[in-house]
Amino acid sequence: MARPRILVTRPITEDALALLRADGDVTVGPGDREATRQETLDSLRDADGILIVGHTKVDGALLDAAPKLRMVANFGVGVDHIDVAAATARKVWVSNTAGSLTETTAELGWALILSTVRRVAEGDRLVRAGQWKGFGAFFFLGTELPGKTLGIVGAGRIGQAVARKAPAFGMKAIYWSRTPKPDFGAPPRELDALLRESDVVVLTVSLNAETRHLIGAREIGLMKKSAFLVNIARGPVVDEAALAGALVEGRLAGAGLDVYEKEPEIHPDLLRCPNAVLAPHIGSATVETRRRMGLLAAQNLLAGLRGELPPLVLNPAARDPGPRAS
Ligand code: 8YV
Repeated sequence: MARPRILVTRPITEDALALLRADGDVTVGPGDREATRQETLDSLRDADGILIVGHTKVDGALLDAAPKLRMVANFGVGVDHIDVAAATARKVWVSNTAGSLTETTAELGWALILSTVRRVAEGDRLVRAGQWKGFGAFFFLGTELPGKTLGIVGAGRIGQAVARKAPAFGMKAIYWSRTPKPDFGAPPRELDALLRESDVVVLTVSLNAETRHLIGAREIGLMKKSAFLVNIARGPVVDEAALAGALVEGRLAGAGLDVYEKEPEIHPDLLRCPNAVLAPHIGSATVETRRRMGLLAAQNLLAGLRGELPPLVLNPAARDPGPRAS
């Protein structure tokens, strides 16, 4: 049987590539950048499997341009750039790396909470600018966490991991989710109630038609003026212009963001807000996690190409397990 052709859209760790090379002919490219649509179309034409590293858009038209494709393995959890229904309709399995980055992303959530409420990034800028004049009883005051309420919007794996760390900071965690989560020991709140009640709101929902601009001007208006918004989910979950407006006008105390509506572009007003901590989409960016993600994505891809149900398949009904009938 011919070795499968595998496209890996950007470089990943060598051990994951070695795993793929043992079973297939692997192309990595076009370099460590997001490929253009045309480059992806060209390199996908004869591929049996694709490992998406980054946010390459996979839609019906792209799948139609790759008639041999059986497997799309995503390097990451969020698959808002992949039309899973279109893949299912074309008998293509799609997998992600759920579970590989839960704690890492939750840690970044806490890094953003802490650096926002205690003004760490703002302080760093002040020190580097040579503007620090020494101690003052009222100098650079932040907000403390004990006794405050943490509102988790979207209590999946990552949301629950963020919530688990709340007691360490003396915070009470509440959540909004479609399904009750027993670990919280309480039913979910209505979104409006959560926004009114929380001192820190952390967004961890996946992006889909229902969650696009879930947090807009109206929702921000429900939050306390003293509250902070942290987004470790996807940029379009928040109306960035509405958020920037609220920060500029002091209707919100601060924001910690890892994701943006049009990455890598950022709303110019956010760049001007000293009370916004802006991270460059690094939720899963640790050496250990990125290695795990690569290995998991490779294992999913190879399983799918062998005709076995990939361990982290999102659309199991797309194909019957077994050798591919082409
Ligand atoms: C990756 C992510 O940076 O898993 C996700 O949903 O956002 C990140 O882990 C991204 O998927 C790039 O591949």
